Amino acid sequence: MINSSLRLALIVLAGLMLGAAAALAIFPAARERLLPDRTSSVGHALVGGPFTLTDQSGKRVTDKDFRGRYLLVFFGFTNCPDVCPSALQVMAAALDKLGPKGQKVTPLFITVDPERDTEAQLATYVKSFHPRLVGLTGTPAEIEAVTKAYRVYVKKVPDPKSSAGYTFDHSAIIYLMGPDGDYLAHFTHASNVDTMAERLTKLLH
Ligand code: NI
Repeated sequence: MINSSLRLALIVLAGLMLGAAAALAIFPAARERLLPDRTSSVGHALVGGPFTLTDQSGKRVTDKDFRGRYLLVFFGFTNCPDVCPSALQVMAAALDKLGPKGQKVTPLFITVDPERDTEAQLATYVKSFHPRLVGLTGTPAEIEAVTKAYRVYVKKVPDPKSSAGYTFDHSAIIYLMGPDGDYLAHFTHASNVDTMAERLTKLLH
């Protein structure tokens, strides 16, 4: 049996919790302060940064060329058997689901395998996923710099099944970067297309 002072304490506590919940619902600013949104503050300085690379047409590009555009950035390699193709399919399908809003987004595929992924190789590859997908390659040093900036895990491993004798273990994260080059959110190759499109709709302004 609950005595009356404990009951009173529980009622007061319930009231306080209800008030806090109401405040969070009513004042988004309070919510932002209390519940730091990982899509804005935490990743801010951690992911992304300057890069200089070469696109599938042979043009040299830098991160600054994409300022003012949202970017969906995925790192992989054209010889990847499954993860990269599924990530790029998810990315392309979500982008198409956005309709006109999707025009604000440039999808990027950055290779982790500059040895095999030449501009010509990328040109054929990106076309098969999305008409606007940009393929980027570079010197090994440039690729190393950009993978570090985006905190991509990449490890070259021996692969007797591949004619080149190697493959890559790599993280399969799709980053959404904002028009100012800042990290906004991320998705994976296993993301549901509808869910991803819904989240993107809310994140794009
Ligand atoms: Ni892959």
